[in-house]
Formats: sequence, C-alpha cells, structure tokens
Amino acid sequence: MDISKPRQTVDESMNQLSLSPPDKPSFLTGTVRAPGSYSQPPKRALKPFASEDIKILLLENVNQSALGNLKEQGYQVEFLKSSLSEDELVEKIKGVHAVGIRSKTRLTRRVLEAADNLIVIGCFCIGTNQVDLEFAAERGIAVFNSPYANSRSVAELVIGEIICLSRQVGDRSMEIHYGEWNKVSNGCWEIRGKTLGIIGYGHIGSQLSVLAEAMGLHVVYYDVLPIMPLGSAKQLSSLHELLHRADFISCHVPASPETKNMISNAEFAAMKNGSYLINASRGTVVDIPSMIAASKSGKLAGAAIDVYPAEPAGNGKGKFADSLNSWTSELCSCRNIIMTPHIGGSTEEAQYNIGLEVSDALTRYINEGNSVSAVNFPEVSLRSLTEADTNVVRVLFAHKNVPGVLRQVNEILVNHNIKAQFSDSRGEIAYLVADISDCSSSSLETLHSRLESLPGKINTRLLY
Ligand SMILES: NC(=O)c1ccc[n+]([C@@H]2O[C@H](COP(=O)([O-])OP(=O)(O)OC[C@H]3O[C@@H](n4cnc5c(N)ncnc54)[C@H](O)[C@@H]3O)[C@@H](O)[C@H]2O)c1
Repeated sequence: MDISKPRQTVDESMNQLSLSPPDKPSFLTGTVRAPGSYSQPPKRALKPFASEDIKILLLENVNQSALGNLKEQGYQVEFLKSSLSEDELVEKIKGVHAVGIRSKTRLTRRVLEAADNLIVIGCFCIGTNQVDLEFAAERGIAVFNSPYANSRSVAELVIGEIICLSRQVGDRSMEIHYGEWNKVSNGCWEIRGKTLGIIGYGHIGSQLSVLAEAMGLHVVYYDVLPIMPLGSAKQLSSLHELLHRADFISCHVPASPETKNMISNAEFAAMKNGSYLINASRGTVVDIPSMIAASKSGKLAGAAIDVYPAEPAGNGKGKFADSLNSWTSELCSCRNIIMTPHIGGSTEEAQYNIGLEVSDALTRYINEGNSVSAVNFPEVSLRSLTEADTNVVRVLFAHKNVPGVLRQVNEILVNHNIKAQFSDSRGEIAYLVADISDCSSSSLETLHSRLESLPGKINTRLLY
C-alpha cells in the first residue's frame, strides 16, 4: 500500500467518499518484522524494575493515533479532552510516569515538583515553551515534541497558493462573494515554466521543491548550508541571486536574529517586477510594511502570508486587528494578497502523524531508555536487546554532569560484563545507558539501591 496516500473509504450512510488517516507507517512505529522475514533477531521487550504499571496522562484531546499506540503497549492511559489548570495538574500528575500535552497546558516548576514519578513529557505539537524545560531536565524528565510531522501539509498549501496567486484567485473569489463578476485574463499566468526560489531548503523547502518540479516549475534555492538538491533543483550561492532570478519566492527558514526582516526594502528592490512572495515560515522573516509598499508599487504582483509578527492567542472575530499589528488594515486593503491564520501545518494528517511520532518517542524512552530527539536532555540510544540477550539488564542513569560520577557508576557495574555503554551530557545533565550481562533478577535490588545512593544521581531506571 502506498503510505503517502490517505485511504479512501465509502461512507455508506452518506454514500460519498471520505478520507481516513493513512495507515501507520512502519518506520514510525518501530514495529519489528515478523521472524523469518528479515535476518534480524526479534526484539526483546524489557520490563521496568521497581516501578508499578506505567501510567500515562493525555490532555488536550491529543490525536487518537497516540491513544491507540500507547494502549497497545499495555500502559494505563487516562485521556482528557481539555487542558487542566496548574492547581488541578499538581493533584492529577502525582503517580503519573508520562504526560502528553499540546500547547495550552503549562507544565511549570510547581507542577513538575509535584510530579513524583514523572520520567517523560510528550508535547503533541511543535512548540515546547509551555514546559519548564530546564527544570524538567534537572529532575531527569526528558521532553519530546514533533517539529516536522506537518512539513508536507505546509508544502502542499504553498503549492496551492502559488497557483492561486498566479491566477488572482483570492481577489476573484472575494469579488464574486460580493456579487461582482470579473472575468479577466490580464496578469493571470500558468505556473509551468516559471521559476520558484526557495529560501531555506530544510524539511519543508525540500518537500516543496519536489512538488513544484512536478508542476513544471524550475526550482532554485538558497540555504546557509550546502544541501544536496532534489530532482533538477539548483542551489544558489546568494539570496540576492535567488531574488533576481525567481518569479515566485517562498520562505522556509527558522526565526533567528539572522532571518529577522530577511525580506525587506533591499530584497524587494532586488526582485523582478511582478514577482510573488509567500511566507509560511515565521512572522518575523518578512518586513510587512516594506511588503505593503512593494505591493502598492507593483513590484510584487501578489503575496501569500500565513504567519505574522504578532498572532492572536485564540480564534475569534475581530482578533486580527490594528491593535495586534499596526499595519493590519493596510495589509488587508492590498490587492492579490492571500492571508491565512497560521494554518500551514494544520491538517488531519499532520495531527495524526504528530500523535504517532510523539507517542513512539514516549514508548522508546519508557521501554528502552532511548532519548534521541529529546529537546532538553542528552540524546542517547543503544541498539535494542534481542531474545538472545538473556540475563542482560539495561541501566538508565541520569546524573549531574560533574567529575567522578561515571567512575562511581562503573565501580558498581564492575562485576558484570558491560555489553554496551553510551553516555552523553547536555549542560548540567548527563545520561548513561549501559547493557550489562550476567545479571540475575535477585541482584537487581542491590544494583538499583547502590546506583540510587550515588551523590550525583538524578534518577535510576533498570529494564530487564
Ligand atoms: N506555517 C506553519 O504552520 C508552519 C508549520 C511548520 C513549520 N513552520 C515554519 O517553517 C519554517 C521551516 O521549517 P522546516 O521544518 O523546513 O525547518 P528546517 O529546520 O527543516 O529547515 C530550515 C532551513 O533553513 C535554513 N536556514 C537557516 N537560516 C537560514 C538563513 N539565514 N538563510 C538561509 N537559510 C537558512 C537551514 O539551514 C535549514 O535548511 C520554520 O520557521 C518553521 O517554524 C511553519
């Protein structure tokens, strides 16, 4: 089955086609192939020592894909549709091993102090500033998010906007909504054979490149890093060369001091007359007053803007106003400007994929201690243990990044054969994962209490 396509099903009651989320891609599930289908031996499922059943609290109606995934692991999952206040969380988080949130739940220092069993947090979204990341790391709590699961959704929106701008669809649609019939071809173009300039050739920029070439566009891109082109795209050595060559310019860079007002008066001056600008990256990247001037002078034939320097905290009428950004009304009065409320990544598929990605990260951390892609914690991974690894125990030890701790740990592990060991640090926190063999279940308690007694310890977990 082609996993890139959503399944089409016939909804009999409606007698029409409906879209259901795609099957869970196997690369996201970490699923082990059936024995015999591949030469790798089956993965051994590890159990936590000195810990009761894993309890997970999911808030803010995270996608059902996450709920299914976590229940499949046998965890006890409590699922709430809404967020909780700080006071409610302080009570609710007691005894919980993992908590899943979106952007509304604030995991403050006070909440984390009350979290007596918490080992991991999943942010089922892109941002993580709703969590006190530093304090979480100090408590040995790893935090995961999903920054790239919506890349395709953004790239698809941009493709749609390129066509809509080129055909002035936004203006025609608005006019006809108000009863005006305006059938014109003047200034309306096919996109085939035109040049798209992509600024920032990362996850989204490169997806866009592939889609754009399939539509007959020539693609050039500019990135601070040398990046292998996809298809026939060409990397250019300067931003100004791109601005000079492109008919459509699309920004896909992060917010940073270097990208603040990256497209301003000088950059509009360098563009071809009648070019189009798209920004679905971050609101600080394009200097909007300069863009309004370029639109009014005819330098720009159109623009599509999905992100703004200041954005309303919630949905509602009258929220996008001059009180938010002083130029709002002027921007709204420009011709052929498509404005959307930061919906580039807002699709059912993206939510579904975020649910899978973050719940997989939680599962890998809980079951194997794998912290790769954590946003606040040292990133450590050891290969999975297999059925052949009998009497092997995995030691997960988060500790203060101070001299001498590893020596003390290894003194405790010295009577075992260390099959594999990996340690890394991030700021003041270090994390060690070690697989030790010849470890009987009767020695686990002693091992656990000796590691727990080390002065630099943050938390200890043993998986066997
Ligand atoms: N509109 C939305 O809903 C939405 C959704 C997802 C992501 N985004 C935003 O889109 C942007 C791109 O996301 P991504 O996932 O592709 O990021 P990414 O990190 O994969 O790619 C960013 C690319 O920009 C390049 N870059 C950084 N600084 C640069 C500079 N000064 N000049 C040129 N290139 C530079 C990097 O080298 C990298 O290749 C981000 O700002 C992200 O926040 C928006």
